[in-house]
Amino acid sequence: MKYKKYILLPALALLTTGLHAQDGKRIAIETDHTALILNIGKNGRVYQSYLGERLADAADNNVLPQGKEAYITGGMEDQFQPAIRITHTDGNPSLELIYADKKVIHPDTGSTETIISLKDPQYPITVNLHYQAYAHEDVIKAWTEIVNGEKGTIILNDYASSMLHFDAGSYWLTQFHGDWAYEMQMQESKLTSGIKEIDSKLGTRADMYQSPMFLLSLNKLSDETSGEVMAGTLAWTGNFRFHFEQDQNNSLRVVSGINPYASAYQLAAGKTFTTPAFIFSYSAHGRGQVSRNLHAWARNYDVMDGNKSRLVLLNNWETTTFNFNEQRLDGIMDDAVKLGADLFLLDDGWFGNKYPRSNDKAGLGDWQETKTKLPNGITHLVKQADAKGTKFGIWIEPEMVNPKSELYEKHPDWIIKLPNRAENYYRNQLVLDLANPKVADFVFNTMDDLIGKHPGLAFIKWDCNRLMSNNWSPYLKDKQSNLYVDYVLNLYDVLKRLRAKYPHLPIMLCSGGGARTDYEALKYFTEFWASDDTDPLERVYIQWGYSNFFPSNTVTCHVTSWGKQSLKFRTDVAMMGKLGYDIDVSKMTPDELAFSQQAIKNYKRLSSVIWFGELYRLVSPYEANRAVLMYVDGIKAKAVLFNYNLNIREREQVNRVRLQGLDPQKKYKVEEVNMMPGAKPILADNGRTYTGDYLMKIGLDLNGWHLKALTSSVVEMTAQ
Ligand code: GLA
Repeated sequence: MKYKKYILLPALALLTTGLHAQDGKRIAIETDHTALILNIGKNGRVYQSYLGERLADAADNNVLPQGKEAYITGGMEDQFQPAIRITHTDGNPSLELIYADKKVIHPDTGSTETIISLKDPQYPITVNLHYQAYAHEDVIKAWTEIVNGEKGTIILNDYASSMLHFDAGSYWLTQFHGDWAYEMQMQESKLTSGIKEIDSKLGTRADMYQSPMFLLSLNKLSDETSGEVMAGTLAWTGNFRFHFEQDQNNSLRVVSGINPYASAYQLAAGKTFTTPAFIFSYSAHGRGQVSRNLHAWARNYDVMDGNKSRLVLLNNWETTTFNFNEQRLDGIMDDAVKLGADLFLLDDGWFGNKYPRSNDKAGLGDWQETKTKLPNGITHLVKQADAKGTKFGIWIEPEMVNPKSELYEKHPDWIIKLPNRAENYYRNQLVLDLANPKVADFVFNTMDDLIGKHPGLAFIKWDCNRLMSNNWSPYLKDKQSNLYVDYVLNLYDVLKRLRAKYPHLPIMLCSGGGARTDYEALKYFTEFWASDDTDPLERVYIQWGYSNFFPSNTVTCHVTSWGKQSLKFRTDVAMMGKLGYDIDVSKMTPDELAFSQQAIKNYKRLSSVIWFGELYRLVSPYEANRAVLMYVDGIKAKAVLFNYNLNIREREQVNRVRLQGLDPQKKYKVEEVNMMPGAKPILADNGRTYTGDYLMKIGLDLNGWHLKALTSSVVEMTAQ
């Protein structure tokens, strides 16, 4: 920590000081390897003294410099982005937060939650800072409660989940940007003085153009195994904002939370506003470690049934789109059985009678089976699947409505649209006004009917194909700026009710590809659809991006007919995540079918390593013409490696790849699996046995003489 230039105004010195505050009271928020040390200054304000690797001697925490105020308020002396800025009932735009109380609780055996209560000495406003520290996973979850004790409504102009301060020589931001069918593209840049913001204003979904997650490297750009790095993500299925601001002294503040854009929130008297959680993990040893931390945390504490297995499904969307009938579906169910999949998933196009859903222009909102297509309804399809020895799942998009629907005709006041302006369509549809509790009930009842009436239903794909635009909630009247937030809060309410009734039904979250990819949604969903783009070359990059934050059992990857690559390449790419199929099985050659049947068997053998093992990214597609990654199980007895050659040239010089995460003492047999019938392995060292030490220091020659663009291999390693 450098000493700052103290030519500051006296008031500013309250906020920024390098002096040792040895007699201040410390609050240590610690995991096994990380510490966030706060302290209470003599003036009663709370400061962040330290964030980083846990100090070996706890006594050192007492001599840390005071640092920056932990949750800076707007309207007082600070001149940069505040964490909170409110307008009181009397119009006063300021807030001062003074320490009142601290509580430490243990919500579960693995975590400790510290709650710091701050109060304004002049106004009855309380702000509770929550920090939940997950010891073994080295993850901290931070959120804030704002309690309005005033007699009237206050306005929350800014209401961050978390504010964190850094003092490094330089800062490097890794962000993930994209578009439809182009999700999670990684971009790295050095931060400069001033502001950099990453945000979204899409309403119904967290992301599309920018994703709600980032890596922040300190002093130098981190790599997989070295460098100081923090991974952060906001658990919010709506507008987010990450604000990075580097001040005149090269200090950085990171303010994370709901995007305050068009969202000055009216909080009624006596009410408490709880922000979403900002989840972060820090490591001094590179980004591979923070990914593994987040994966373990997500499986253990966040994702619905995160430690349970997933179903391999066959979807009909790419094969039929909207054109199917009972007979066609019957055939696809037979294909699912033939393939060895666990489930058949019926996608869009099964509903609507007055306005049947024969394309994407009609039917959304009318969730009754189309009689002409499915005369015997879903009940029959569930029964058929059961009779064939498979399971049945179904697609639904319950938050949306087509203007061509009975729902639109009956309830025009249930729809988000501006009065006095033309309706604005996106995929020919509109968003229901979920801020209205009646609409939330409709969404819940739709789901409850569908699931309740069909007890054999084994899977749901919940879609959300449009963002919000031209916003106006007929329900919210003079509280329009609560819309973005209330929509999401009511969505969570519906999901909570649904999960109370149907706790373990697997549900995939989809949003026109991967646009609802956040950890609050994943509390209710078992997995998410990563992208509508299933071209495996693109998918390598997309899945690489997600792998930084999400465990592989949540990242749904399907083998389809997109891309010109071999079926083997498509399958190997899909196998690094949660494998599924969306392909016309009847068009497969006998070899392709045999290969796919064996691939599913291989996947079932290896899936516990892929889903629950530790991920090591070995060669990045952003740095080479190939991508290599591996998973190792908890006892280091089994590992599986995926090797994807991208636009590689045949005589390109590629090194052996050194493995990671193995037990150096153990001996591992290395075998290439997932080969087309009759094909030979490309792994030069196939079938040999090496020590973990050798594999990690010398590595494997993954391609031998068979270097070719768009080829791949899967290597299984078994301790002997
Ligand atoms: C979205 C999804 C697709 C498919 C279609 C159906 O685009 O991402 O997977 O379900 O909707 O309309």
